[in-house]
Amino acid sequence: MTKTTNDTWNPAQYALFQEQRSQPFFDLLALVQPREAMRVLDLGCGTGELTKYAHETLRAKETLGVDSSRAMLEKSAAFASASLRFAHADISEFTPPAQFDLVLSNAALQWLQDHARLLPRIASLVAEGGQLAIQMPANFDHPSHLVAKEVAREPSFRSLWKTEDRPVNVLRPEDYATILNELGFQKQHVRLQVYGHLLRTRHHVVEWVKGTMLTAYKKDLSDRDYERFVARYTEVLLPRLGASDPYFYAFKRILIWAKR
Ligand SMILES: C[S@@+](CC[C@H](N)C(=O)[O-])C[C@H]1O[C@@H](n2cnc3c(N)ncnc32)[C@H](O)[C@@H]1O
Repeated sequence: MTKTTNDTWNPAQYALFQEQRSQPFFDLLALVQPREAMRVLDLGCGTGELTKYAHETLRAKETLGVDSSRAMLEKSAAFASASLRFAHADISEFTPPAQFDLVLSNAALQWLQDHARLLPRIASLVAEGGQLAIQMPANFDHPSHLVAKEVAREPSFRSLWKTEDRPVNVLRPEDYATILNELGFQKQHVRLQVYGHLLRTRHHVVEWVKGTMLTAYKKDLSDRDYERFVARYTEVLLPRLGASDPYFYAFKRILIWAKR
């Protein structure tokens, strides 16, 4: 499991598609069975807005959101209270003193490698009778992702990368179901869901991935090279998305819920 080092997250860019990005979180939360006085942990809480939503919806006793990006966490300060706290930590190393009734993670674990090892670690944070709820994008075979890899291998970019490769960390839905069973979860719900986003133009796909997937490329590049990379990415991508606007962005996600 690798640690996130560079902070290339930009809350304003991420917020551009807030409505579309929030729906999977609401769908994930709908899988959770509310219990009295829950203690909730949100791994990769980002700006904390959805953490607050979960905290209030579940009427949790205590909620802790953790994230490795100080830029994202800065926003969360506005939502903090005596029962809703935020902390700077890397998921791969975070070791709380006690377990939680619900461990939640929305659109964050895809950044961490080796899920066969990560899942047992995260499961160990769930208390007896507790629940796990995870949502991750699984859209790695879409041109929006494939073109970034392709352009990164072009001669004018390939010597610039500090990271050897950007592996796809997300496993198949059935792999998560099997892992959860092996970890002793009594109940589970794992599904692949396609979210259809009708974007005004194909260019909006570029703005979308600038807020997420492209941050992994940005961290290795100077501002000038990143601009050049995005320009070339856009040039190659747009024709692959078809000839006309609006663009229907079909986006696959995996939703996971399990109970001990
Ligand atoms: C796409 S955002 C999702 C934020 C929030 N969960 C939401 O749904 O709005 C992903 C978040 O995961 C965080 N993240 C990525 N890798 C992490 C790690 N290893 N440890 C902690 N946070 C991490 C990023 O900093 C970022 O804030």
